[in-house]
Amino acid sequence: MSEIAVELRNITKIFSGVTALDGMSIALKKGEIHGLIGENGAGKSTLIKVLSGVHIPEKGEIIFDDQPAKYTSPLEAKRMGITCVYQELNIAKDLSITDNLFMGEYVKSKSGLLDYTYMNKRAREVMEEMGQDLEPTKQCGLLGMGQQQMVEIGKSILSNSKVIILDEPTSSLGEKESQLLFEIVKKLKAQGKAILFVSHKLEEIFEHCDVVTVMRDAKHIITTPTSAINKDQLISYMVGRTLSNLFPKIKTTPGDVAMEIKDFSSVGAYRNINFKARYGEILGFAGLVGAGRTELFRGIFAADKKDSGQIIIDGKVQNIKSPAKAIANIAFLTEDRKAQGLVLSETIARNISLVNLSTFTRGLFLDDKKIISQAEDCVKKLRIKTNSIYKLAGDLSGGNQQKVVIAKWINMKANIFIFDEPTRGIDVGAKIEVYNVMNDLIKAGKCVIMISSELPEILGMSDRVIVMRGGKIMAEIDCSSDQFNQEDIMKAAWGGVLKS
Ligand SMILES: Nc1ncnc2c1ncn2[C@@H]1O[C@H](COP(=O)(O)OP(=O)(O)OP(=O)(O)O)[C@@H](O)[C@H]1O
Ligand SMILES: [Mg+2]
Repeated sequence: MSEIAVELRNITKIFSGVTALDGMSIALKKGEIHGLIGENGAGKSTLIKVLSGVHIPEKGEIIFDDQPAKYTSPLEAKRMGITCVYQELNIAKDLSITDNLFMGEYVKSKSGLLDYTYMNKRAREVMEEMGQDLEPTKQCGLLGMGQQQMVEIGKSILSNSKVIILDEPTSSLGEKESQLLFEIVKKLKAQGKAILFVSHKLEEIFEHCDVVTVMRDAKHIITTPTSAINKDQLISYMVGRTLSNLFPKIKTTPGDVAMEIKDFSSVGAYRNINFKARYGEILGFAGLVGAGRTELFRGIFAADKKDSGQIIIDGKVQNIKSPAKAIANIAFLTEDRKAQGLVLSETIARNISLVNLSTFTRGLFLDDKKIISQAEDCVKKLRIKTNSIYKLAGDLSGGNQQKVVIAKWINMKANIFIFDEPTRGIDVGAKIEVYNVMNDLIKAGKCVIMISSELPEILGMSDRVIVMRGGKIMAEIDCSSDQFNQEDIMKAAWGGVLKS
């Protein structure tokens, strides 16, 4: 028996003129964690969708267990032993854990009725195997992102898959949830499963993968043991050039206070929050996922109700009752971009102009020329991978969709910009473009607030950092002072005492 579980040979996949896979090959070995990395739009998700039966390639072969394999749907792939946890989760939120786990493959009892006694029992066992003590009848919509992902992985365990594919599984998970996920993945590896793991987080690739394959422009670039390559080499294979400075921090002199938050509280979310954000600076908000940062800024933006507190902008107390009002001063790039930021059935150009149509009017009419030049400018600046600004947002790769949302918000006429996890799901090269956009904003005298769970980016780009934990501000750190270091921020975020 071969040590290879599944292999793609010379696969080509074309979408209406766009070659998403160009003679791509990859072999996944049993008992191995194989990382897959590449810029946004490189073809990673397409590769996965070919492997899991969603897309049928124009050319090439799939070899499964040493035999040429033909399957034309995810269900057929699953029956053969290949399952996938997609970038956009596939959970039916109004159904129970059991229903989600057994969907399409319900078990019937002898009498011909659905055997929920058996299915609930199995569902409980499978979730317990992953350390999740959950009632199998619980509706999946009530679970957190991490737990929903566990249900997805549960499907693979239940169907006893030989090949398990994870497309950016940690992009919306907190630190603890990610660790748990990797523990489960390691268990699956020990059982001899072949695992394909897509991530933009280089640290994860190095820490957890045995081998890594790099893709660029729809092609295979290299496959190598992770122990035989370093971070800089990996980056240059990905982007086809060397990136000298991952954090292009610029020095500006902060100006007046743009926004002051006084005694902000919302029961169960955050308490007694006080801070000032200045023009011409990047104020980082550090903390672990769940520290209350998103909730706080949703409160400030009036997207959620708060219990008490005051917002002072340019020295004047504001009475912001709705996001529609907040938009006059504040642009808020939300964390959940799919749900709050993008209309998938609209073009890139239309999405970029959506929030601020008033900017684009000439008299009563929309200024198409301005919309077009703005959109083209953004596509260039943020390196959105597309052949046209009229492409539908839904046809872009996950990371490129994120860039469209960023483009839409940076064109706002606001003076205060809040970015919530701005580089999540974005490749290393594009991250730099996003940082440059922030730099442009502070150079133009705007105030930028960056919420991020990525410590390197907080340290690399902020002028000042506020650390939150459990809904409270734990520390405020001036990054220009010599005394500050990464450890201080970690301690404040994780718990423990700050050095003074
Ligand atoms: N359904 C589709 N219709 C048209 N083009 C598509 C479709 N799906 C993907 N593409 C195009 O194929 C290319 C590869 O996309 P893919 O989603 O595989 O990239 P990716 O490597 O997963 O990127 P990301 O890191 O952003 O998730 C992109 O140019 C994308 O626009
Ligand atoms: Mg993708």
